[in-house]
Amino acid sequence: MALTALNVVSDPYYADAKAVAAAMQPEEAVFCFSAERLRERLAIFTQRFPGTVSYAVKSNPSREVVTTLSEAGLTHWDVASVHEMALVHSVQPSAHFHYHNPVKSRREIHNAYHKYGCRRFAVDAREEVAKIAEIVGEDRTVEMAVRLVLPRDRATSAHDFSTKFGAPEHIAIELLQDIQRRGFVPVMTFHPGSQSRDPNVYVRHIEAAHRIAKTAGVHIGKLNVGGGFPASYPLSKPAPLDSFFTLIAEATTHYFGKGLEPALECEPGRGLVANCMSLLTRIKLVCSDGDDIFLNDGVYGGLMEFMQVPELQPPYRVIRDGKVLEGPAKPWKVFGPTCDPLDVLPAKLDLPINLRDEDFVEFGTLGAYGIATSTLFNGYGNHAVIAVGEVYNG
Ligand SMILES: Cc1ncc(COP(=O)(O)O)c(C=O)c1O
Repeated sequence: MALTALNVVSDPYYADAKAVAAAMQPEEAVFCFSAERLRERLAIFTQRFPGTVSYAVKSNPSREVVTTLSEAGLTHWDVASVHEMALVHSVQPSAHFHYHNPVKSRREIHNAYHKYGCRRFAVDAREEVAKIAEIVGEDRTVEMAVRLVLPRDRATSAHDFSTKFGAPEHIAIELLQDIQRRGFVPVMTFHPGSQSRDPNVYVRHIEAAHRIAKTAGVHIGKLNVGGGFPASYPLSKPAPLDSFFTLIAEATTHYFGKGLEPALECEPGRGLVANCMSLLTRIKLVCSDGDDIFLNDGVYGGLMEFMQVPELQPPYRVIRDGKVLEGPAKPWKVFGPTCDPLDVLPAKLDLPINLRDEDFVEFGTLGAYGIATSTLFNGYGNHAVIAVGEVYNG
């Protein structure tokens, strides 16, 4: 999927999705985007996180989100691929990239370094350190961020990242020493899992980062505490972001010592963008016998994450004639538009009993991993992005 092809931002500007539904009557599902909500959320991170904030582009690579963040002054970007670098670079040529996907091909490292000036690479394997060293040669300004992983003793996040990435402690120690021996700049990073509900999970990682650096005998000047910052969903109500920021600052001072703290960085995706977009879908069919309805979007589109992690069920409401449809409700089985039988929401939705085709169903809090994970399966999924003032978040 081309990262930029998705994003057609409408002019004029509508108050909210209700106004979009009434005025545009969109046949295809669209994302409604509020730049104001995004700027507000960015300000929370930049004003209160005790360090540098970068944005995890993967969570929402729409041009409008990237442009809004760039115009609001964001200068650092966590990217998963060279494609994301190209997108950000086209909006902000001076962008600083953190290429924090721990696995990169030689060609990708080469292009990141030479074409986009990337000087930060995450690593969690010996082979990756060697590969980067081979490509960047004698450039001692290159930072290598060792991504550590801790055993996951209990579910503290909606997504468990520890099964795929991260070096366990004994490897992390070796990697730091190798990076230092080769003359590159050693940094440490971790990701506690997306939608981390418990701020203490950051404390455990900061404690481990300190222990690893001390055992390795390597001074780390920077510590990136990852993404994972939560958003509020109907079935997942986290503690306020401030409690995360306070604990992160306190833990860093506690473990590393006052005045000896590494400079902190974070790279939120979900916590920054979840609230800035909703998905406006439309009912194509209401079956008169039973409780089945068919929407023009589904789990192969903007609702994929709901299928992967039912805890992240978005808030939803029905819109008719530009107003929210109230009244007695019942559980409906909700199918998406493709010909695939798996294209059905993982839980029934309580929706008004008098639903009609051409009513709209709006799903809120879909700014993170909504547009980003949508596919073009069966020809659907090329969502337009419509600028609105206010976004529905339940
Ligand atoms: C390296 C890295 N940083 C940051 C993020 C963003 O995570 P979240 O959306 O949970 O904030 C991710 C998500 O996959 C990631 O892999």
